[in-house]
Amino acid sequence: MSSDHLQDQDSSLQIRWLIRRDMPEVLAIEHDSFDYAWTEEEFLCILRQRNCIGMVAEIDHEIVGYMIYELHKSNLHVLNFAVANSHRRRGIGTRMVQRLVDKLSSQRRKEILLEVRERNLDAQLFFRRQSFFAVTVLRNHYDDTCEDAYIMRYQLEASDMPMIAGKINRISSYYDADAA
Ligand SMILES: CC(C)(COP(=O)(O)OP(=O)(O)OC[C@H]1O[C@@H](n2cnc3c(N)ncnc32)[C@H](O)[C@@H]1OP(=O)(O)O)[C@@H](O)C(=O)NCCC(=O)NCCS
Repeated sequence: MSSDHLQDQDSSLQIRWLIRRDMPEVLAIEHDSFDYAWTEEEFLCILRQRNCIGMVAEIDHEIVGYMIYELHKSNLHVLNFAVANSHRRRGIGTRMVQRLVDKLSSQRRKEILLEVRERNLDAQLFFRRQSFFAVTVLRNHYDDTCEDAYIMRYQLEASDMPMIAGKINRISSYYDADAA
C-alpha cells in the first residue's frame, strides 16, 4: 500500500504529546510490535527524564503510533518508535519522522540518531526510505539476543548523502536493492 494512502485520512491524523492516559494503548502497540517489549515502568522511568519526549499519533481518538526520543545538544535520539500493526504501510511512520525532522535546525540539532536491531529488516528499510543511513555497527549490543545494532542517522543538510563508504554490513544488499 502506498504512503499516499494516508492522504484520505490525513486531516484526522494528529501527532501530539503522550500523556499518562495513553499508556494502555501505547503498551498494547509495544507488545504487539516487539519481542522484547518495554514495560510500563520502563516507559515511565524514561519519560521522567527532563530531556525525554513522548509523542503519539492519533486517528479519531485512537492511538495508532508513538515515539519516544531524547533531546541532546546537537541531535535527537530516538529510543522507541512504533506504528500499530493494523495501521502500517499507510504513511503514519513517515509522518512521525517528518515531525522529528521539523524539530531539527541548521543552528542547533542537525541530526536524528537511532539504533535498529540487525534482524529488524522492516525498520531498516523504513528508516532508509526516510533518508536515514547506517553509520555504525554496535556488535552484540542487546543483552537479550546478542544481536548487533545498526546506528542509523538522518542529517538535515546531507539527507541525499550516499551510504558511508566502508560501512558495508549484512543489510547493505537490501538497501541497494531498495534504492535501485
Ligand atoms: C517500521 C514502522 C514504524 C513503519 O511504520 P509505517 O507507518 O508502516 O511506515 P510507512 O507507511 O510510513 O512506510 C513508508 C515506507 O517505508 C518503507 N517500509 C515501511 N515498512 C516496511 C516494511 N515492512 N518492509 C519494507 N519497507 C517498508 C516502504 O518504502 C514504505 O512505503 P510504501 O508503503 O509506499 O512501500 C512499523 O513497521 C513498525 O512499527 N514496526 C514495528 C516496530 C519497529 O520495528 N520500530 C522501529 C524500531 S527501531
